[in-house]
Amino acid sequence: MILGVDYYPEHWEEERWPVDAKLMAEAGITVVRLAEFAWSRLEPRDGEFQFAWLDRALEVVSAHGIRAVLGTPTAAPPAWLVEKHPDIVPVDAWRRPLGFGARLHRCLANPTFREHSRAVTTAMARHYAQHNAVLGWQTDNELTGNRCYCEVCAGRFRGWLQHKYGALDVLNRTWGTAFWSQEYSAWPQVPLPWQTACGPMAHNPSLMLDYYRFASDITVEFQREQVRILRKHCPEHFVTHNFMGLHDAINYYDLAEDLDFVSWDNYPESSAALPHDVMRGIQGRSFWVMEEKCGHAGWNTMGPIPRPGQVRAWAWQAVGHGAEAIVFFRWRSCRSGTEQFWQGILNHDAVPGRRYREVAQVGREFRQVGPELDGTAPRNDVAILYSYDQIWALQIQPQVPGFSFALWLQRYHEGLHRLGLGADVVSPATDLSPYKLVVCPPLYLLSDELAARLDRYVSNGGHLVVSARTGVKNENNYARSETLPGPLARTLGIAVEDYDAIGDRSNAIGLHDGARFKVGLWCDILRLEGAEAAARYLHDFYAGSPAITVSRHGEGRAWYIGTVPEERFFRHFLGGIAGELRLRRVADLPKGVEVACREDEEHRVLVLTNLTGQRQTVRLHDPCEDILAKAIVGDNIVLDPFGVRLLRTTS
Ligand code: GLA
Ligand code: ZN
Repeated sequence: MILGVDYYPEHWEEERWPVDAKLMAEAGITVVRLAEFAWSRLEPRDGEFQFAWLDRALEVVSAHGIRAVLGTPTAAPPAWLVEKHPDIVPVDAWRRPLGFGARLHRCLANPTFREHSRAVTTAMARHYAQHNAVLGWQTDNELTGNRCYCEVCAGRFRGWLQHKYGALDVLNRTWGTAFWSQEYSAWPQVPLPWQTACGPMAHNPSLMLDYYRFASDITVEFQREQVRILRKHCPEHFVTHNFMGLHDAINYYDLAEDLDFVSWDNYPESSAALPHDVMRGIQGRSFWVMEEKCGHAGWNTMGPIPRPGQVRAWAWQAVGHGAEAIVFFRWRSCRSGTEQFWQGILNHDAVPGRRYREVAQVGREFRQVGPELDGTAPRNDVAILYSYDQIWALQIQPQVPGFSFALWLQRYHEGLHRLGLGADVVSPATDLSPYKLVVCPPLYLLSDELAARLDRYVSNGGHLVVSARTGVKNENNYARSETLPGPLARTLGIAVEDYDAIGDRSNAIGLHDGARFKVGLWCDILRLEGAEAAARYLHDFYAGSPAITVSRHGEGRAWYIGTVPEERFFRHFLGGIAGELRLRRVADLPKGVEVACREDEEHRVLVLTNLTGQRQTVRLHDPCEDILAKAIVGDNIVLDPFGVRLLRTTS
């Protein structure tokens, strides 16, 4: 386990550096991330590189046994670059250029910006290739889809479409441009989704989806250029990037393809369990937290400070979900700039206090139990399908206000988590055969190929949960013509006869076991064609008709949830399935307490975190040994507020 901190030596007097490094080392910090916004210091004038200051900073930290991850500084283009090439800035949908002043003032498709990005990356890579204090690299910072509306992007979009569709008549057919006279007879006629006379979201939904995909591809291409340079000059170093958890304006599966591992920036508000699982699922392997919250968040205003123990609980929660390194953001609150009030481990006064001691405690614990965790990773019986195409298509047309991919994802994940059931959040392209249960938030875009794979998964004995608004469109965001749920109708044994977008009116459902739940937003009116009803509506003209169904198909079973039930339904419903499938559950958990498991061939470590400010009692299903306290614990464990237990199952 690695403990690190994000450090900005360029913000502080050099005389302070050795004091900082010594304090870091005393807290058990062995890694710093440096330089990801330091472009104006690294290249103060066009083509004039200055590494001496960063060399000295590296010397200071490495004298204390600390090594570095270097960021390419391209998220903050310097003033001279924007002055010289004002056209590198991004443009909004109203075609207004966005100016210098904060960060991110660059269009990633702009060739001049690209040239400068390559130049600074190459200079850094060459200079630090042999430096033994450097462990690896972070590309740029928190990349997102390049949703820019400049002329360069317009040209690149047309080229991207030409490559995808070949001929314009294929594009016209695929998008259905006969609607509102949008047929294109020459490539330059194809617009970006600029503002229209009918508002921002009035563009053809197929064009919109392709634009989101294109904007994501541009960012991936931009990063790839940097990665190639880094790999060429620094073959010994790792290359990663700091992702943003549930951020969804870029296809993270694509962005991760060029990287050794995923890192992410964790600023938890409630639980970070879901984003941790999403981040692990991007490559299906362990990850780093490159920025971990250690104080209150705030740019111009501030929020509540983490309670005693909370920072430690967040760190251990991350480890439970597969983190190999926790890098706290940031070392010390900055005295200047937009983030003056974003709290570091140290306040402006640099006096080590409660948060410093808590970080140091994490450092001691990492040293104590690190070897126990080496080689272990989360392994789960349940998968949740996660896809950026689905997210985007439902953002473009949410069906009913409040309905989103994220809503379903959260409810399923939370339902499983409350049951003490870990889940892998995976791409639909993943091999699903190892999973006993696969849960699908709406597969609103459903290709024949994905439907066939899911059908095979069930036929071969898998268990599948499918949500309302599945099978509505094909992969081009063009409505399918079959009765819903389209190509999954046979697998699910149902037909959606009609649907009612009830919005904030509510209905209710009754299950066979007598349980009743409120439902909202959406009601599919279903006809059984081989399936059985698992729940029926209680109100309105479709009272008595099925709302949830289950069908046997081949060796497996498939459920369909045709409405949006309230949160507590998910624990009840998934708990029933988990019981029938005898899924391995390790504990009964009160709200706000979480368990995550890491295991290898020989043993299993449970990380139990109390994310609440109250004492909590947890009932374990097996007796365990507490490896921090080195004691055997019984079935009932009492956790202090924000308490953490690391347990080894003795079975
Ligand atoms: C992000 C960025 C950091 C910093 C923090 C806090 O995660 O990557 O540079 O801006 O937010 O605002
Ligand atoms: Zn652009």
